[in-house]
Amino acid sequence: MTAITLTDVVKTYPPRERGGAPLTAVDGVSLSIAEGEIFGIIGYSGAGKSTLVRLVNALERTTSGSITLDGREITGLRERDLRGVRAGIGMIFQQFNLFSSKTVWGNVEFPLKAAGVPVAEHQRRISELLHFVGLADKAHVRPDQLSGGQKQRVGIARALATSPRLLLADEATSALDPETTQEVLALLRRVNRELGITIVVITHEMDVIKSIADRVAVMDRGRVVETGPTFEVFANPREDSTKRFVSTVVSGAPAGDELAGLRRRHDGTLVTVRLSEGGVDQRQVFGLLTRHEVSFEIVFGGIDEIRGRTFGTLTLALSGDPASVRAAVAELGDAATEIEEA
Ligand SMILES: Nc1ncnc2c1ncn2[C@@H]1O[C@H](COP(=O)(O)OP(=O)(O)O)[C@@H](O)[C@H]1O
Ligand SMILES: [Mg+2]
Repeated sequence: MTAITLTDVVKTYPPRERGGAPLTAVDGVSLSIAEGEIFGIIGYSGAGKSTLVRLVNALERTTSGSITLDGREITGLRERDLRGVRAGIGMIFQQFNLFSSKTVWGNVEFPLKAAGVPVAEHQRRISELLHFVGLADKAHVRPDQLSGGQKQRVGIARALATSPRLLLADEATSALDPETTQEVLALLRRVNRELGITIVVITHEMDVIKSIADRVAVMDRGRVVETGPTFEVFANPREDSTKRFVSTVVSGAPAGDELAGLRRRHDGTLVTVRLSEGGVDQRQVFGLLTRHEVSFEIVFGGIDEIRGRTFGTLTLALSGDPASVRAAVAELGDAATEIEEA
């Protein structure tokens, strides 16, 4: 079952000033998100991620294209019907968006009241939600007495109050430190596994995607430039813009100034070797070079891990008999890219 299908979705904003140019924030996005998965959308600031989220939860209307939720077309629905659509979607935000004058209890109760859930049911539902997010003892405090992580737990409890089938998290951990981020992500994983809720995680942070997303779409200037299982997209990016993006968030191949510096310091053969499952691993690379009697120095690179699977690149300065170096590079084949001389 597909939870969300986007087909050629475009969102163009009118010019901000007279005579200005319209801005296409989302530019022909097609995506399909399966029920029960955790789907990541990553991209630089300004890529169009938040706009896409506002289209999916029907806070804004698409300029063209189609969005279906659980098979139901939402583009073109009347405002009255859209309210029902929104009720089936939970949202959490970077700044938590809690009511500062209400207690934790009051914040979680708010959507129950708005949805017209009978007051007699509030007690049981709220206490169940607060237990689930680990804040049963904080029911009567106000948000300003909570840590950032606790505030986001309240945000999650509130988002789950009306039992949505879909949770949209827009930069939900971007205001949190790395440790708290991991705690909140662990809670989101429980939301997914224990409650079976489909989650779309929007972020500019690679670490978030790495630790939680089953599949990922990379957005760049309004477009989805690549999509696939998280490990594949980051270990073997295909599109240039994905490679650029990935190289800024994982330790990749040297580029720009780093590359120029390496070239200055090493005048012999420089190769970047891509390590991956199904390809070569470090042990094989070092074994092969030793067999060819080629000496090497690791001058750049790093190994990364996504959900227990490793990948990375190593840039090596090779030295030895030129024929042996050539033979070794040839044997590395597709896994190695020789860096040309300056
Ligand atoms: N309401 C709006 N009116 C005009 N332009 C907007 C509006 N919302 C977003 N934009 C523009 O759309 C682009 C994408 O923004 P956004 O979706 O917020 O990106 P992201 O969430 O990836 O950082 C940006 O250039 C932004 O300035
Ligand atoms: Mg955003």
